[in-house]
Amino acid sequence: MKTVCIIGLGYVGLPTAAVAASRGWRVFGVDTNPQHVDTVNDGRIPIVEPDLDGLVRKVVADGALTAHAAPQQADLFVIAVPTPLTADRRPMLDHVFDAARALAPALRPGNTVILESTSPVGTTHALRDLLAGLRPDLGMPGRAARPDIALAYCPERVLPGRVITELVENDRCVGGVTAACAEAGAAFYESFARGEVLRTDAATAELVKLTENAFRDVNIAFANEISMVAARAGVDVWSLIRLANRHPRVNILQPGPGVGGHCVAVDPWFIVDAAPEEARLIRTAREVNDHKAVHVRGLVHAAARAMPGAPITCFGLAFKADVDDLRESPALEIARQLADDFPGGVAVVEPHVARPPPGLAAPLLGLEEGLQRPGIFVLLVDHAAFRRTPLVRLKGRHVIDTRGIWTAR
Ligand SMILES: NC(=O)c1ccc[n+]([C@@H]2O[C@H](COP(=O)([O-])OP(=O)(O)OC[C@H]3O[C@@H](n4cnc5c(N)ncnc54)[C@H](O)[C@@H]3O)[C@@H](O)[C@H]2O)c1
Repeated sequence: MKTVCIIGLGYVGLPTAAVAASRGWRVFGVDTNPQHVDTVNDGRIPIVEPDLDGLVRKVVADGALTAHAAPQQADLFVIAVPTPLTADRRPMLDHVFDAARALAPALRPGNTVILESTSPVGTTHALRDLLAGLRPDLGMPGRAARPDIALAYCPERVLPGRVITELVENDRCVGGVTAACAEAGAAFYESFARGEVLRTDAATAELVKLTENAFRDVNIAFANEISMVAARAGVDVWSLIRLANRHPRVNILQPGPGVGGHCVAVDPWFIVDAAPEEARLIRTAREVNDHKAVHVRGLVHAAARAMPGAPITCFGLAFKADVDDLRESPALEIARQLADDFPGGVAVVEPHVARPPPGLAAPLLGLEEGLQRPGIFVLLVDHAAFRRTPLVRLKGRHVIDTRGIWTAR
């Protein structure tokens, strides 16, 4: 039986571990968070993701997946740890290099190491150089004539909420330090993926991921910018986009309160950091999307001026519909700022979290309780529960609908 050690048991690593374990791999999951390790070993999951809980319960019960505090010897290693931004918007790769330092003692000739964390161009080679320094006894690809280790980069493109399906169905690209490394990495994904596994070099694969997310960000920025232009012109943006999209070659995305999550709102900065002179459109798109949250806050202030003392209820905190992920969420940022702007006047409804997140000075209400409040409703996330709300429940409220589900004509 082939063994794989997956480092980082979060939104990417845990589903990958569970899917691999269900397809014949013996999987060692590793996380520095002891609660995640305990939760997984209990057959439970520390995140919200449809279909993942049943799968983890099964593979843990079968003994195919165990979680550990430190890397275990295996045929293959996958690194899926966070790569956030530093305060000055540069890629923070400490977790990746910490993971590499932790796995280095477990490396054996014949092993493959795959980096899945979203990373700037050059990171896979930097990982190779770090491992070479830690394990001078092992021949590294691109350095030794007969390398002992294969090193590849494989970006993850799963959509939260559909991860189990997309892990298997999506096409992937695997970039090797050498062509042989790409083959070794691709063999892992071909053991469970139905999508095509395309081979390339490491730098291309690294930039593919960043490019995909910058493309999304730029396109959403266009929709968000148009929504602010339409507001100034007194035009309903939802009708505007619906009508413009009847042009055979126009396909404008839907605007929102900004862009969140730790991918689309973060990764474009990796490109701007590496190519500040060239990446002008990508930088501007980031700024437009960040500004949309400021615009929404301004709409609430204008409504509050017209209705002094009216309670404000924010619907949704997550960065997108039907997930519990609050990272980089513009909805959370807007709610936080409004709670500070109107002390005691703001409440929030977020069906996917159990308690208000730190720094949010507003009570967390159930949907029914929130809908009973008078005053100003700020719809920030298009959760299914909000879509199902009969519009009659909004009667008499001033509705600021950033997602077009409560007011779109
Ligand atoms: N979430 C997504 O939808 C998504 C999609 C594509 C790519 N990515 C990328 O995948 C990577 C992982 O993202 P995620 O959403 O799974 O993150 P996450 O925060 O959900 O999970 C990462 C896990 O790694 C653990 N960890 C941190 N440092 C560690 C270390 N040195 N050793 C072992 N464990 C460690 C953390 O405790 C955490 O449980 C990031 O680079 C992200 O940008 C995420």
